[in-house]
Amino acid sequence: MANHKDEPIDGPVGRKLWLRADRVLPGGGIYFSRSADMAGRGVLPGFIASAEGCRVTDADGRSYIDFLCANGPNILGYNHPEVEAAVNEQAQTLTSASLFPPTLVEVVERLVERSPGMAWGVVSKNGSEVVSLAGRVARQHTQRRLLLAFTSAYHGNDPELASSPHPGVLADLTGDVLRIPWNDGQAVEDTFREHGEQIAAVLLNPLDQNPRQKTRNANADFVAAIESGRAHYGSLLAFDDVRHGFRLHPYGSHHLLGIEPDLTTYGKALGNGHAISALLGTEALRRSARRILFTSTYMFEAPPMCAAMKTLEIYDRENVFNRISDAGTRLRTGILAAADAAGHTISYTGPDTMPTLLFEDDAEGTRQQRFAREAAELGAIFHPALNWNLSAAHGDAEIDEAIAIAAEAFKRTPGA
Ligand SMILES: Cc1ncc(COP(=O)(O)O)c(C=O)c1O
Repeated sequence: MANHKDEPIDGPVGRKLWLRADRVLPGGGIYFSRSADMAGRGVLPGFIASAEGCRVTDADGRSYIDFLCANGPNILGYNHPEVEAAVNEQAQTLTSASLFPPTLVEVVERLVERSPGMAWGVVSKNGSEVVSLAGRVARQHTQRRLLLAFTSAYHGNDPELASSPHPGVLADLTGDVLRIPWNDGQAVEDTFREHGEQIAAVLLNPLDQNPRQKTRNANADFVAAIESGRAHYGSLLAFDDVRHGFRLHPYGSHHLLGIEPDLTTYGKALGNGHAISALLGTEALRRSARRILFTSTYMFEAPPMCAAMKTLEIYDRENVFNRISDAGTRLRTGILAAADAAGHTISYTGPDTMPTLLFEDDAEGTRQQRFAREAAELGAIFHPALNWNLSAAHGDAEIDEAIAIAAEAFKRTPGA
């Protein structure tokens, strides 16, 4: 998509980096959410050189209030002093070893303690790995073949979980993951009736939240149909809280749906920007989990585990969930008023801590991009396609500054 401004937002350093990147990176879908294809080339700065609190600085030295939080991770804000101190202290004594670091036990204990019903955990680096592992544990435990997932739901980069036909993924490979529409309780019932004996697990996100789309909560009939299928056929519930974990509910987003998963996964916000993810499971699944081979060289790096320990400590101590909820509500209120004042009809969708702004009558996303481009020029990053993320570093002053930027960006966006 064109960015509808002649000049890209990137300054001379960023532009040179793009030229070099185009020579050595394949581009396109590779690195999907960060790729220029997702935001529109030149709409947002292509390269972030440093970050602090809720501000990021691009390769040309321009600073922006950021509402991406690295696509989720930085829930306490970038470069949080206590988290970084814990990471650095650990890095001075041990990064990786050939046996377990003690902090592995501590971090899994902490996660299990915070998650009633869960008895064991496995730590890895990215969300994709633990979601994929959840599917394996469920299949091993039930000795069944199928996973039931929902149309468009993203569950990471495991080829089997690709949500639509993807180049390089064999159709046969995705055939054992049934995909049915979100919030269609009837489809859930029908699918269980037809395949229930073979469904190892339902793979469920707390929300249906996809780029450039309105967020949809799970409706009560849909959740009831999943619960009833699960009870009747003995299928498991594998909850994917990688993206929403810690931003919808302090102790797991499943609380919003009133369900108790058999397996749950965390990633993104768990390490405030350090690479750590986790799968937690119930006691009943422990023996099955034990049988699975799951390892890789850097899974045992100790500093990200210390980052997670410290992040959880601060998150609980500083009541971060309430803080980001309040900041998100302030942002929503201000953005809606600013859009209205400029004569734009928008929908502001999703939870306040993870909202998506959509312009009405903007099928091509043209206004969306123009707004994001204008806001970036004025010093705020509001992604034009992906949901935004709030952090504890977004104080009232920063939110008000961002609202003022949005107000001006709305005025500069044609089409009101
Ligand atoms: C719901 C969900 N599950 C899994 C993943 C994969 O996590 P990661 O990108 O850390 O591999 C993501 C990433 O965006 C996600 O949104």
